[in-house]
Amino acid sequence: MTIIVTGGAGFIGSNFIFYYADKYPQRRIVCMDKLTYAGNLHTLAPMQGRANFRFVQADICDRQAVYQIFQEEQPAAVVNFAAESHVDRSIADPAVFLRTNILGTQVLMDACRNFGNIRFHQVSTDEVYGDLPLDRPELSFAEDSPICTSSPYSASKAGADLLAAAYCRTYGLPVTISRSSNNYGPYQHPEKLIPLMILRALADKPLPVYGTGKNIRDWLHVEDHCSAIDLILNDGGIGEIYNIGGGCELQNVDVVKMICRAVGCPEALITYVADRKGHDLRYAMNTRKIETKLGWQPEIEFADGLQNTIQWYREHPQWWKTLI
Ligand SMILES: NC(=O)c1ccc[n+]([C@@H]2O[C@H](COP(=O)([O-])OP(=O)(O)OC[C@H]3O[C@@H](n4cnc5c(N)ncnc54)[C@H](O)[C@@H]3O)[C@@H](O)[C@H]2O)c1
Repeated sequence: MTIIVTGGAGFIGSNFIFYYADKYPQRRIVCMDKLTYAGNLHTLAPMQGRANFRFVQADICDRQAVYQIFQEEQPAAVVNFAAESHVDRSIADPAVFLRTNILGTQVLMDACRNFGNIRFHQVSTDEVYGDLPLDRPELSFAEDSPICTSSPYSASKAGADLLAAAYCRTYGLPVTISRSSNNYGPYQHPEKLIPLMILRALADKPLPVYGTGKNIRDWLHVEDHCSAIDLILNDGGIGEIYNIGGGCELQNVDVVKMICRAVGCPEALITYVADRKGHDLRYAMNTRKIETKLGWQPEIEFADGLQNTIQWYREHPQWWKTLI
């Protein structure tokens, strides 16, 4: 069996490739990645010697290239991680987000239709639901909550989700969609909150926190995200959407304070900077569906996962030094 993993040189895609290769050593994994600024081929070095791994540098929007890979590989399933993923970049320049995140998803699903109604999994985000107020802790998003996006990034991800649902309904394409909360773990690009703060804390540099720092995110270790996607691929209902969350809501400033304590740098390094435009206040996921229907639970406690992540960045300066 062959699986195509798009965006596999990025943060979650590479972790998924490692997870999948460990769990299913007999299966062939084909990674398709454009290698944008966010993709790093060095991350996949441990895979390069393996007989049943292939890396192809390709843009998911390039129909000819995508069709050629599908023709050669005849995959049984496709997991789409490829995306422009950074909210701040989407605010500065939305165009590439619409191209990759929506049109690229369309090209992949057209290829799935063309080459035998191939199983397609779309990796999405809790950001498609918009945000919740800070003073209503009882509220959370379920899979049938309305789409209500705040940034060009989340709007482009929502567009892809709607298109994936439409391909399922209109063409009978076997699609599933997962919407995950904020991930952390090894191989995350240093532009994102946790690695940014770890690397700045390790260097005793100021730690810039948006606005009041009270915005709340739910944190999920990337390995728990990978196990959830694997489960959905195996047992998920066709046409279904699954929320994936870590059950660990924290204010951004508290995450930064935890990093300060773990690294041993003073909290006085925290500096509050002008807030992000349209900054979402709180994300919170209701994950009852994946827990009850598929029996999934996150396994990694945030405090442990954060310690391990800090340790990983300490031990791998050769991985991140060229990126900052
Ligand atoms: N990081 C999170 O916290 C989080 C949370 C929920 C959902 N997601 C979603 O998970 C997916 C992966 O996120 P990530 O954090 O690993 O992102 P990332 O930015 O680390 O990696 C994205 C990868 O996609 C590749 N890519 C970009 N455009 C491409 C194109 N046109 N063709 C082929 N490859 C292309 C990049 O080279 C990179 O390797 C995204 O779809 C994102 O929306 C991320």
